Amino acid sequence: MQIIRDRAALRAAVRGLRGDGGTIALVPTMGALHAGHMALIAEARRRTRHVVASIFVNPIQFGPNEDLAAYPRREASDAKMLDEAGCDMVWAPDVAEMYPPGFATAITVRGVSDGLDGAARPGHFDGVATVVGKLLNQVAPDVALFGEKDYQQLAVIRRMVADLDIAVEIVGVPTERDDDGLALSSRNAYFDPAQRIAARAMPRALGEAAESIARGDSVSAALALARRRLTEAGFAPIDYVTVCDAKTLVEVDEVRDEARLLVAARLGPVRLIDNLRLLPR
Ligand code: PAF
Repeated sequence: MQIIRDRAALRAAVRGLRGDGGTIALVPTMGALHAGHMALIAEARRRTRHVVASIFVNPIQFGPNEDLAAYPRREASDAKMLDEAGCDMVWAPDVAEMYPPGFATAITVRGVSDGLDGAARPGHFDGVATVVGKLLNQVAPDVALFGEKDYQQLAVIRRMVADLDIAVEIVGVPTERDDDGLALSSRNAYFDPAQRIAARAMPRALGEAAESIARGDSVSAALALARRRLTEAGFAPIDYVTVCDAKTLVEVDEVRDEARLLVAARLGPVRLIDNLRLLPR
């Protein structure tokens, strides 16, 4: 498996992969890989002949008080996991290669970026859209795969790809969870053992709220219950617990079309996000 660090070498390597007429999937990551990323690679392998993963901790999607410096970086073990999973190539540019001196362009996806994490983390989705736009141009894959755990990110990327006529199929892959239900995330590594146990309350609260809505309780009652459960478990602040239309992410107070129950809340050092699909009764 090749590890490529500059754009000229990437272009040549992608031409090489394309040479056999096979299709290419891209799995963009920031490294610190876990089973959630490996599920993306496995799904990519089912869909295309070649799989390229990118590893790039994207500074422009972190706010000034976020964990850019502390974000786990373990390229050697990531590369080993990707190699064993059958990935063909890793695109791992440094910051100067991705954003050379004079870089001045940003992609803003209005609407779907504005609420939820977009409100809690100003500028975050501009950073995500800009880097994903660049990655899609650099690798020019047939398919690109993203986890549904970052559901708003997936919606922003789908909107950007449609709006900018980027010729790629975007695939959302269901969230991988630990045995106790906690969604896998590179940031779970920041928890101490007691916090890690308390974190289970988030998937439980979501599950309980989703069941309550499915039984016919009102969305507002279900959300109040989820908020109470999170507070009891020590989550603070709760940035949002809400139900939104699955595509536009506009808040709804009834589930008439496919919707998403979304939550973001802090527990100790980690701001956790999670979401579940809701279907009309
Ligand atoms: O989900 C992530 O790991 C990142 O936001 C992404 C899509 C790789 C862009 O930096």
